Amino acid sequence: MDAEELEEGTESAGGSARAPRIFRAFYPVLASEALGAKPRPVRLWGRDYVLFRDAEGRACALRDVCPHRNVPLSLGRCVEGRLECAYHGWQFDGDGRCVRIPALVHPLRKNFSADAFSTRERHGLVWLRPSGETELVDPDVRSWSGESGYTTVVREVRARGSLHAVAENALDVPHTSVLHRGLFRTGERHAITGHVTRDNHSIEIEYRGEPAPKGLAAWLLALRGGDGAVEHFDRFFLPGIVQVEYRLGSATHFVITGFLSPVDDEDTKLFAIASFRTPLPGALLGRLLLPLALRVFAQDARILAAQSRVLREQGGERFVSSEVDVMGPAIARLLRGASKAESVRASGTLEKGALRRGTFELLA
Ligand code: FES
Ligand SMILES: [Fe+2]
Repeated sequence: MDAEELEEGTESAGGSARAPRIFRAFYPVLASEALGAKPRPVRLWGRDYVLFRDAEGRACALRDVCPHRNVPLSLGRCVEGRLECAYHGWQFDGDGRCVRIPALVHPLRKNFSADAFSTRERHGLVWLRPSGETELVDPDVRSWSGESGYTTVVREVRARGSLHAVAENALDVPHTSVLHRGLFRTGERHAITGHVTRDNHSIEIEYRGEPAPKGLAAWLLALRGGDGAVEHFDRFFLPGIVQVEYRLGSATHFVITGFLSPVDDEDTKLFAIASFRTPLPGALLGRLLLPLALRVFAQDARILAAQSRVLREQGGERFVSSEVDVMGPAIARLLRGASKAESVRASGTLEKGALRRGTFELLA
């Protein structure tokens, strides 16, 4: 990193009580398989939506408010691909149009509509765009899920923390040997180099010089695949995707992709997809690693909740960052840049901009 960027890296990550929100982008809100015959309420950026499947099986999203008497539509039921309100039975199609009012004698003459939102299904998840006709950013992320030779485990977890705090935590190397002492990394530290590549959409840090991992989880991973060389990448993509990738020798490849879903400013869901290829039977490794991963996450969630409490009490972030706190400030910069671009343009996309590179050293 050059001097200017290091300087930038020491500012407060958020700078205000509310972390930047980006609305013109898709966020995952529910596992696809959880959306069946019943409507499902979901919450994103503090607003309530109802999901249901139309007659073609398409996932549809409406604001979770009936335009008639403002009862939550999610209390209703699905009738032949339409969502029926639980109060007076008005029925809405996937575009939010009211197509039936059961008490009407004459055919429906007025247009009554519930607000409808764009959805899509990717990575086994239903995604919702809270605003706009187009996406400001549209990341194309490979999760290795379902690829030949890979085992995939999917889990949904939730933490009391902002999207920024959860993203930083997921990609923050310096905390791992302290907060997860013994589980993930050992106390013994080695100097490693972080190579940073970033543009206006994403940031990637490649760590070089990392010894073969120790600690219980790492031992399981490296059990038979490790021949010394470790490749480790941490990535963040706007608006809220985190990814940790490890290759140990030629045989072991492990990728966790976390799709963040901001329920509100301090409550974030994470849809985690772990894909791995190892010399051990994948299903066995999955069963061994899952409880460890959940323990690691529980430790993170406890810290994030405590941090949130402080941020709420003091009215926002007052962070200081050292030279090794690269990821958190970089994510904050990306979020602020995107939020600014969104506030000045109602359509169009955020330019990726020039690639910027830098390096830093840390003891990990
Ligand atoms: S409140 Fe929904 S139909 Fe009356
Ligand atoms: Fe952690």
